[in-house]
Amino acid sequence: MTNIAVLGFGTVGGGVVELIDANQDAIRKRLPEGLYVKYILDIRKFPDSPYGGRVVDDINRILEDPEVSVICETMGGIEPAFSFTKSALEHGISVCTSNKELVAARGTQLMEIARAHGASYLFEASVGGGIPILRPLRDSLAQEEITGITGILNGTTNYILTKMDQEDASFDDVLKDAQAKGYAERNPEADIEGKDACRKIAILSSIVSGKSVRYEDIPCEGISEITKADHAFAKLAGCRIRLLGTYRKSGEAVFARIAPYLVPEDHPLYSVSGVFNGILIHGNMVDDVMFYGQGAGRYPTASAVVSDVMTLAAADGKCVSTEWSEEKLTLTNAEREKNTFFVRLPDSRLDAAKQLFGDTIVKTLGSLGGETGLILGPMTEEVFGTVIQALPEAAYLRML
Ligand SMILES: NC(=O)c1ccc[n+]([C@@H]2O[C@H](COP(=O)([O-])OP(=O)(O)OC[C@H]3O[C@@H](n4cnc5c(N)ncnc54)[C@H](OP(=O)(O)O)[C@@H]3O)[C@@H](O)[C@H]2O)c1
Repeated sequence: MTNIAVLGFGTVGGGVVELIDANQDAIRKRLPEGLYVKYILDIRKFPDSPYGGRVVDDINRILEDPEVSVICETMGGIEPAFSFTKSALEHGISVCTSNKELVAARGTQLMEIARAHGASYLFEASVGGGIPILRPLRDSLAQEEITGITGILNGTTNYILTKMDQEDASFDDVLKDAQAKGYAERNPEADIEGKDACRKIAILSSIVSGKSVRYEDIPCEGISEITKADHAFAKLAGCRIRLLGTYRKSGEAVFARIAPYLVPEDHPLYSVSGVFNGILIHGNMVDDVMFYGQGAGRYPTASAVVSDVMTLAAADGKCVSTEWSEEKLTLTNAEREKNTFFVRLPDSRLDAAKQLFGDTIVKTLGSLGGETGLILGPMTEEVFGTVIQALPEAAYLRML
């Protein structure tokens, strides 16, 4: 029997405990000795829960029990999650987590501590919720040179963009609806400003590059400025707007970005709607591989946490993988990245735009509500940024 402890008996932690009970038969097919949740750490007591007798309030009870071999950290936040994880790893106890904030901010350091103490720090649930993505990248695609990642990595923003598109609704109205339904948090900043997705593309970029990518170095734009007009023009162009995390490697140049993009209807991510996530990986030999599923939620996220526990239990105490080194990956200056752009501007400024953009205009989408939409061919961010300054009335989005 592998004894585990769960830190934080909330949405994900509660799901981990329930899943291990409900799926014990499935678990025993791979791990005949089974898994058992010996402790649950939380600030509150849970007298009405069938698991209430296992709830403790002192991390040392767990760290000092030699029977505990794996800890699931599902508390979230930086502290005390970081201190508890560090102490566990220093005691040689491996840790699995869904805490993307902690992985993105201190993951490199925690992996070093794990290595030094013969333990493992795994975080499948930190990207894509229930979608298996980190282990396939590390194992099934280990032989590939990964040259591209394009992902819808945040279900809340995808839900908002989908609703705005389907119901011709404003950002503010859909955000309120998403909060009422529990799809968006009361303080939605981390989601709508792209920070949550940014942490995830930083984790994915670190895994495929083998070096530490700081999320603070990644240009990050959210969706709060997206309007009904953007969606109307996207439809005219045969596209949908999606918040994408991108990683591109071309020779020595490496770019990463979070931004809303127009996604054309022949692209695999076009159909990823609502709270779902989709991640398209491009390998130099395998070509495109797509991962799709529930990017969050109690049981999908718990499933990913338990998959890490299973991996560790099957490894029978051996250290499982080192995800990336301490060496920092220096991203190429984002101004050098080439993109194609959609621009909308007042009809009265069309002649000025034609003069400024010249041959780079590949399509005029026509006029809607007094504005004209243009699609521009590929150019560097630097060139586009310089030209668009001369059109302060214009709004723009990137295109896939
Ligand atoms: N929910 C999802 O769908 C999802 C998906 C992917 C990743 N994640 C990540 O998973 C982590 C957990 O998310 P969640 O939604 O499960 O959060 P949650 O529902 O708020 O659960 C966290 C639990 O930890 C407890 N806790 C907080 N501080 C503690 C402390 N010092 N000692 C012991 N227990 C403590 C909380 O107690 P109180 O309630 O009393 O504060 C709560 O029961 C976060 O990092 C989140 O980003 C969540």
